[in-house]
Amino acid sequence: MSRYLVTSALPYANGPIHFGQVIGAYLPADCYVRTLRMLGEEVCFVCGADEHGFAITVNAERDGASYPEYVARWRDDAKATFDRLGIEFDVWSGTSISPHHAELSQQFFRRLDEGGYLNKRASEQLYCAKDEMFLADRYVVGTCYVCGKDGARGDECPSCGTWLDALRLVEPTCRNCGSTPEKRTTTHWYLDLPKLRDDHIGEWFQNHPWKGNVKAFVGAMLEDLQERPITRDMSWGIPVPADLVGEEEDKVLYVWFDAPIGYVSFTREWAEARGEPDLWKQYWCDEDTRLVHFIGKDNIPFHCLIFPSMLFGQKQGYVLPWQVPAMEFYNLQGRKFSTSANWTIPLDTFFETYDRDVARFYLLSSAPESADSEWRWEEFQRCANTSLADTIGNLVTRVLRFVAKHHDGRIPPIAPEHEEELDRVLLTECGALEDPADAIIEFRFRRACERLVANASVANVFVDRMAPWTLRKTDPARSASVLNTCCQWIAWIAQWMHPFMPTKSVELWSMVGAPGALADQRWPGLPRAGEWRLLEAGAPLGEITGPFAKLADETIAAEIAALEARVAADA
Ligand code: 2FM
Ligand code: ZN
Repeated sequence: MSRYLVTSALPYANGPIHFGQVIGAYLPADCYVRTLRMLGEEVCFVCGADEHGFAITVNAERDGASYPEYVARWRDDAKATFDRLGIEFDVWSGTSISPHHAELSQQFFRRLDEGGYLNKRASEQLYCAKDEMFLADRYVVGTCYVCGKDGARGDECPSCGTWLDALRLVEPTCRNCGSTPEKRTTTHWYLDLPKLRDDHIGEWFQNHPWKGNVKAFVGAMLEDLQERPITRDMSWGIPVPADLVGEEEDKVLYVWFDAPIGYVSFTREWAEARGEPDLWKQYWCDEDTRLVHFIGKDNIPFHCLIFPSMLFGQKQGYVLPWQVPAMEFYNLQGRKFSTSANWTIPLDTFFETYDRDVARFYLLSSAPESADSEWRWEEFQRCANTSLADTIGNLVTRVLRFVAKHHDGRIPPIAPEHEEELDRVLLTECGALEDPADAIIEFRFRRACERLVANASVANVFVDRMAPWTLRKTDPARSASVLNTCCQWIAWIAQWMHPFMPTKSVELWSMVGAPGALADQRWPGLPRAGEWRLLEAGAPLGEITGPFAKLADETIAAEIAALEARVAADA
């Protein structure tokens, strides 16, 4: 058994969550955590809102809200979305409210300083005299000095992808008011990433067995690493420790410095809520912990390089990430999700029409694991109708309705002389079986979804071959054995389904009258002939409902039309 600390990127408390984010960092993590739990692993699943940063202050002011009010609104909104999707964190908090967060962030800063990993320097920064503030890099726009394209931001050029120095942007303007900023001198602290790399992080990163897109991306960054400023001139944020900052006012830790520390603060909050205040240390400071960060690919540098450097620089034995499953981007019907451009799926109303488990399954089956992918309404319909309603739903209803009618709603008996043959046919002759968990623990969610459906299809092949409905007339005992086998298989499917579809799987589990709570079952793995039937003959079935409704063409066409109409109305 291992101990897992699983985190999902802290979403900014700065607007509604969309499906692109959901499949980027939250839903795969929830599916992974549910699987680990069924496999008997010890897990803590941590998330909360990222509540500081310049962008939040600009938007709160625009909305006429105080900063705490503004972030509370979006913190609650994000949580409501996760609840609707059945994404269950062990702790959900926020970086402006978590009790130990400010103190812990200051401690991180202080320890880095004591370790010689911070450099304090005066430098020039862009200042907007009209707005009376220093401008965060992202709030300066201009022409990229590397590729010459317009629309570059002070931190990064979206055209060529280079990390930029805002001061070198050509013809910079303030994104807030459009005026030309001036250069002013200010003092900041810089995280000495080259020193941290040379002391440990470079070697750690190179020797770690990373999966997927992380290795190449960070490997290239390590070559040309610069120190990074980790303080900002503004009032909303965690103050730089008073004794270090001296006379200067309004200096706070950069939002990207304090945000990942939130993973630690929230774990402490969780441990305290459980009445075991020191438990967080087992997760964060025991070398056996597997720390897994679920993120979108734009967060790779922070989770694979900067935060590990901060953790190492504490010299407190903090664990470093074990795996960082980083999703590529997820679009909507060929374009980027955009709340401001109305190219989105409103999640406050989505669940009035659609089942959350169907959405979960479709999202996981189209996850952008190794390349960008997208939500397509037509594909959502195909997934709901073909993979779920036809393959799983149809099996369930035709078997269970027949059993309800002809076997008094009870699991039919299996005759000992049929068992071996039926196991052989089902388990070896009706299609290849693969354990979906093998794919999930390798972060291959698409593959896991395919396996689930393929395993369910095996039963359809079996039913077609055995034809229990007609067999009943000629050999009722054998028909009963076949139906027993099918009911057992449905219970097995319910278990395999659980991490993907936590509600539907429980419905299936109770329809087939399986004993105990599904969430408490150990992961079933692959069935082994002669020892996989878990339902007692004669046990009563539960109430039978069609588990998956089909989505009509008109419904889907209306969604696409509404999406296009919303953008058109906005244009
Ligand atoms: O990109 C984002 O949405 C950030 N708020 C993620 C922060 S993750 C962590 F470091 F807190
Ligand atoms: Zn301005």
